[in-house]
Amino acid sequence: MSTKRLVLEVLEKNRGNSISGEEIAGALHLSRNMIWRAIRELREEGYQIEAVTKRGYRLTGENDILSAEGIKPFLLFADAAENIYVYPTMDSTNREAKAQAVNRAVHGTVILSDGQTGGRGRQGRAFFSPPGSGLYLSIVLRAEEMNFSSPTDITFHAAVCVCEAVESLYGLKLAIKWVNDLFLEGKKVGGILTEAITDLESRSLSEIILGIGLNVCTRQEDFPEELRETAGSLYPEGGAPVTRNRLAAEILNRVLFSGAGEGKELFRRYKERLFILGQRIIVKQGRDQYEATALNITEKGSLIVQTPDGKKQTLSSGEVSISPTFVDRKNELSPIF
Ligand code: BTN
Repeated sequence: MSTKRLVLEVLEKNRGNSISGEEIAGALHLSRNMIWRAIRELREEGYQIEAVTKRGYRLTGENDILSAEGIKPFLLFADAAENIYVYPTMDSTNREAKAQAVNRAVHGTVILSDGQTGGRGRQGRAFFSPPGSGLYLSIVLRAEEMNFSSPTDITFHAAVCVCEAVESLYGLKLAIKWVNDLFLEGKKVGGILTEAITDLESRSLSEIILGIGLNVCTRQEDFPEELRETAGSLYPEGGAPVTRNRLAAEILNRVLFSGAGEGKELFRRYKERLFILGQRIIVKQGRDQYEATALNITEKGSLIVQTPDGKKQTLSSGEVSISPTFVDRKNELSPIF
């Protein structure tokens, strides 16, 4: 690792507190001159590092530059930081993660980018990913390392993990629109795109690419006009109180280590946040589109809907949106698990 990255790691570990050049030099077995040069380079990259006489250097709390070094102090297992790769920009972290997975990247490899020029969403849509204000990350997961009865559970698991991470750090309660759109105050603030790599020989899933996109402090006026009505961010006025590095660590800890439960427990937590139940929705399946009422979610994550003629259907895939003729039928629900 370069001196600059090593110094950054020490500053990130001590974020908000001062540490003298001598202490840093001692901890890293490097000369004070090398530390001074590294500090200068980091400042050139945009890090706000204060130098206080007799106290030393201090990385200010407002710094929100994504880095593996900034994520590491908050990881449950610091070793996991070895497989975190952060880029200033790229087309799509899912595309890059896929390429690395094909090149035998290990389970838990994480690709993060400050911004994306070709962020991908579900159903071939684009995901608006401006630099500096969102979290765009993709994780390479090996199916056999994840303890799920079905690989599709990973998507539900990720949605719960992201919601719980956001709630624990910011106190904001996100809601889920089936399958994996994340909402806050009626606006979509994030989404999850899970893609699989299939092993043609064994005809099984070998790797799963879990892509997570979250608008953290994207200002409302910065969304393109066509998204301004429907998209939002956790802090649409800007200025999130907790850095994106810390948020990334909180999400990774949950997705990779602490989890969101399995089976019934996972779907209980997912359902708790699912805001479409009891509501009139529009179901889109391929070219078909019809109105229905969302009734419930099964333990496999399928959505049970009822069409106006009283027929029930169980959807394992598709896309739903809230119908403009929305009727709240929450009290008529009978839970199935
Ligand atoms: C959706 O809303 O339909 C899913 C959006 C998923 C966006 C994330 S951002 C990180 C990762 N890289 C991508 O290109 N897409 C996912």
